[in-house]
Amino acid sequence: MSENIHEIVQTDVLIVGLGPAGATMSALLGQYGVKNLAINMWSSTAPTPRAHITNQRAMEILRDLGLEDAAKDIAVDQKTMGDLVLCSSLAGEEFGRKLTWHTHPENQAQHDLASPTAVCDIPQTLMEPLILGAAQRAGSSIRFETKYLSHTQDENGVAAELEDTVSGRRYTVKAKYMVGADGGNSQVAKDLDLPLEGKMGLAGSMNIHFKADLSSYVAHRPADMYWVFQPGEGLAGHGVGVLRMVKPWTDWVGVWGYDIQKGPPELTDDMARSIVHKLIGDDSVDVELGTFNTWTVNKVFAKTISKGRVFCMGDAIHRHPPMNGLGSNTSMADAYNLAWKLAAAVNGQAGEALLSSYQDERQPVGEYVVNRAFASMGLLPPILGALGLATAPDPESMKAAMEKRKTATEEGAKQRAALRGAIDGLSPGFSALGAELNQRYDSSAVVSDGSEDVGFSEDRDLVHQPNTRPGSHLRHVWLEKDQRLVSSFDLCGKGQFTILTGIGGEAWVDAAAAVKGATGVEITVHVIGAGQEYKDAYGDFARTSETEETGALLVRPDMFIGWRAGDVSKAVELVDVMKQVLGLTAASKEIAAE
Ligand code: FDA
Repeated sequence: MSENIHEIVQTDVLIVGLGPAGATMSALLGQYGVKNLAINMWSSTAPTPRAHITNQRAMEILRDLGLEDAAKDIAVDQKTMGDLVLCSSLAGEEFGRKLTWHTHPENQAQHDLASPTAVCDIPQTLMEPLILGAAQRAGSSIRFETKYLSHTQDENGVAAELEDTVSGRRYTVKAKYMVGADGGNSQVAKDLDLPLEGKMGLAGSMNIHFKADLSSYVAHRPADMYWVFQPGEGLAGHGVGVLRMVKPWTDWVGVWGYDIQKGPPELTDDMARSIVHKLIGDDSVDVELGTFNTWTVNKVFAKTISKGRVFCMGDAIHRHPPMNGLGSNTSMADAYNLAWKLAAAVNGQAGEALLSSYQDERQPVGEYVVNRAFASMGLLPPILGALGLATAPDPESMKAAMEKRKTATEEGAKQRAALRGAIDGLSPGFSALGAELNQRYDSSAVVSDGSEDVGFSEDRDLVHQPNTRPGSHLRHVWLEKDQRLVSSFDLCGKGQFTILTGIGGEAWVDAAAAVKGATGVEITVHVIGAGQEYKDAYGDFARTSETEETGALLVRPDMFIGWRAGDVSKAVELVDVMKQVLGLTAASKEIAAE
């Protein structure tokens, strides 16, 4: 009889996908005490390295999850990763270098000032289990070999049809909300009929994972990537191959292109070995081949990223080339934006507007990131042109073209200048701190303080331009507690709203209590200054808060400024402001400005 019973599983949030986006969502919801079930159609987390650049925003999320130290233990640090080498092969001629990932001394300062964390290199094979472990420890329910098939939704919830791919058994999960974090071929996004703009499959590339001890070629010039310029299809059809370090200096991915018109090649061991040897430039190196996979260059973003009770995130809504290393970082940040909103909704503390603010806040970020990463692909052709590779049909003619660069001729000087310019021009693809950190939100979950949007006074992509205007990311400043430095970020997060104020701002504690009474939402208030738990060690909090000492920064659980009050007289407005942020009122965004 039991065979005829269609099992129904109940949860609050069903998460489809356990990549960087889904795993982060599950870990955060677990930490916020929200019952969630996260599924992965495969039997394991990512088996190939894929994403590896882990930027400061992603590290801040890991810090909030209590995972930063564990992440550093498995990461390759910024100094080791940040010197891109351009060469004809590892054994061949070096054409030039570029200090990347903010390691140029002129960039290092803004990187260090921006965050208590540092960019690092963590392959996806290690990142996913790290986050997944936190999700499991927080009590999230995780199911592998479980495939999402379809769903329906109404005003009360979502019913999703899943399949246990081992037994073939199908069952239903009923949830209050569902998250589609199911990657670049998202079935959830298809089922929602999300409008996607752009094009998939613009160029084709293959990743060849292999083990080989390449220390003698690279240990003295550490980098996370070695770009190899050779005639042929190359990365994304550009004649550039990449040797990407997975673990110094024995674990690697070789990246090479294929003609997208002809479709993905049937890659044999012999072909893979020959590509790897070509990139190394030394056939005698012992290469132990791992798995191969092909991937395409995509330029796609969704204009709508949620419908009703179903929300999509990560590659499901933005797909782009790996330049700038923004993929998994942006996917994790999508989760950070949505998780606290779902928690508030599940706890009955939020109105619909809070959930709709996910669209207003994250869709523009996804669209921006796709365009940024795609524009960075355009930085490659000038290098090919300068190397004479754009026209060279074979290694011999390329070598001949390159030889001109060494001559005291007008042509040689021109070529040298072109190459210098092209390598300098790589900055927006590798040193784009602004692209990584300058997100600003404009939505109902951000309450204006009446100040004008100052926009960006310097290059939006290259220069981090923090401020405390509502909708901006919280500024990192170092504070002191018990003679130890603590970041302003460490006072916030963990699923909580926080108010940061200075001496004389004690009335914010009563205002926060009034919010608790009116909405049930807790706000932690920190008074920063002399004689308090947290002192303004370098005076940076006072210098950068852009309020009077008694003013306040209302920090949302995702470290964005929800509202800013110039002084303590505004404390009476806090209940109305919080109702607005939580979507519990129809009041205008200008409420606090009046
Ligand atoms: P992701 O694809 O990782 O995960 C999707 C999940 O959904 C998987 O768990 C899958 O099993 C599951 N799933 C799919 N369909 C399902 C179904 N029907 N039922 C159940 N589960 C289902 N990014 C970056 O930040 N820095 C970098 O350096 C790079 N470099 C890079 C290099 C290369 C070569 C590539 C191809 C990509 C990158 N990226 C990157 C991009 C990065 O890999 C990508 O953006 C993230 O993996 C996206 O994470 P998601 O969690 O959104 O999807």
